[in-house]
Amino acid sequence: MPRVVLAGSGIAGLFAALNCADAGWDVCVITKQSLEESSTNYAQGGIAGILDKTNSEGKEIHIKDTLDAGDGYCDENVVQEVVNEAGDRIRDLINVGVNFQTDSDGNFDLIKEGGHSQKIILHSKDSTGKEIETALLSKAINHPKIELLSNHLALDLILKDRTSKDKEIIGLWVYDIEKKIVETFPTDAIILATGGGGQLFSRTTNPSVATADGMAMAYRAGAKLIDMEFVQFHPTSAALDSDRPFLISEAVRGFGGILMTTSEYNLWKTHNSSKKPEDYSFTRKYSDLGSLATRDILARAIDQELNFSGEEHVLLITEHLDQIELQKRFPAINTFLLKYGITLGVDPIPVVPAAHYFVGGISVNKLGQVINDLNGTIIKRLYAIGEVACTGMHGANRLASNSLLEAVVYSSRASLNLRENISKYHLDLEKELPDWRADGLENLREHYSLIDDLKYLKMTMTRDVGVVRSDRRLNRALRRMNLLEKEVKMVWNSSIPTRPLIELRNMVQIAQIIIQSALNRTENIGLHYNEDNINH
Ligand code: FAD
Ligand code: SIN
Repeated sequence: MPRVVLAGSGIAGLFAALNCADAGWDVCVITKQSLEESSTNYAQGGIAGILDKTNSEGKEIHIKDTLDAGDGYCDENVVQEVVNEAGDRIRDLINVGVNFQTDSDGNFDLIKEGGHSQKIILHSKDSTGKEIETALLSKAINHPKIELLSNHLALDLILKDRTSKDKEIIGLWVYDIEKKIVETFPTDAIILATGGGGQLFSRTTNPSVATADGMAMAYRAGAKLIDMEFVQFHPTSAALDSDRPFLISEAVRGFGGILMTTSEYNLWKTHNSSKKPEDYSFTRKYSDLGSLATRDILARAIDQELNFSGEEHVLLITEHLDQIELQKRFPAINTFLLKYGITLGVDPIPVVPAAHYFVGGISVNKLGQVINDLNGTIIKRLYAIGEVACTGMHGANRLASNSLLEAVVYSSRASLNLRENISKYHLDLEKELPDWRADGLENLREHYSLIDDLKYLKMTMTRDVGVVRSDRRLNRALRRMNLLEKEVKMVWNSSIPTRPLIELRNMVQIAQIIIQSALNRTENIGLHYNEDNINH
């Protein structure tokens, strides 16, 4: 039987693994850390989509909201198709065992988030991602045709012929983190589902695995990366000294939470809280939607307010809301906040924007097949799905809860394509596959600690390539990244590989591409805002 290797065990990877295995493929899922560690596992708000096929008005609104959030830059056709497919794919998730929250009448409890004009988000309280991840993982673990390998890091793709303009992938080099060796994986098809790269920034909502590996690997193999300047910053990550990033879901604002600066909050309190809190919120200056404006607008608004006030965070106010209902609806957020002496529905929550989602990524067609940068054809046997890919759905800014949706739709399409073409895929190249860097492995030594280099990269990206950019800062970031690239290359060529080294090499490469894409974009649109651009 042909064998497909999937890199990544989030929603995109696991959903595709189950579909491919059901279609007869031998499936191997490799994943960098533990099986569940992924952005998917931390998703809070939910998944957007209209379940009722006959609800064309609802679908039209979902399409419009997505296009508006994308700031006119979405591929409209892709948006229409994904929105129309949403109901079927969400039903697939339910069939796999995902439990979405229902109300007392047994109907799905639909909610609203920023940029949405209707309630169409299904959720599992504030742990939607965990619910999805757990359901998919338990199916995958028990599937006889799926092998799951944790602590296996996809390192580089093996091309059939490096010199040819036409590209075909015939295998994968994988770093086994426990054994500390690079192994050669033969495969008939590869699906990259390695997620995004929030870890390029000091402040992020993403887990430690999000280091943009898949994008870097695909780029080195000749894939086209697009829209990389559009990094989404979530307006409300907790500004608390926690050991891992923590998001305060936009759904809290969908429930009525309001953003204020500290001085606005103090003023509201001195007025005995008798006036509506939204009347005090700076967000009204930036959008009629106030605290529920789209993320690009809110993140910039907060950035501007913080620059102006010199404060380190703004506040998310929930004390005007029903405390019991709020805590029932957001139990995980409440438990997290309690550790810091903050009670949901009582105390203001300090929040700041944080890198959250990579809108850009590996350019793919409607089947998730990867586009060759040299000639616009597809790279044979290679697919990319989920956050690692760029389909055109999100334009210049992703609408809330559209990511899980897009991931599941493209995951389904890629696996359907593999199902339909299963007989054409079988290769017998095992003997021909080269070992990793067969020519450059002599005299390798242990490398020195890379912690400072990583900090330098994150600090540069945060300061110079963040919510608000300028030509000067982008150019400074590029110069710094070019120096770091040289440094990392030297270490790479003389050192035994380790996870930190592999990740740093990937992150530097993607940082350079983000910065260059930001410099190339001369108009301000969606998530990209450069104060030197003329239309700002
Ligand atoms: P991920 O879920 O990130 O999975 C990537 C996988 O690849 C992981 O298993 C990782 O370990 C593995 N991996 C990475 N590199 C390698 C490598 N080199 N080799 C092998 N394995 C590798 N979106 C929504 O639509 N709704 C929400 O409510 C929502 N909330 C969010 C909340 C948080 C805190 C975060 C961080 C994101 C949220 N998002 C939300 C975004 C959404 O969760 C992600 O975009 C989506 O889960 C991505 O799924 P994925 O399968 O593409 O990648
Ligand atoms: C959130 O819950 O605020 C995150 C939703 C998303 O990223 O789509």
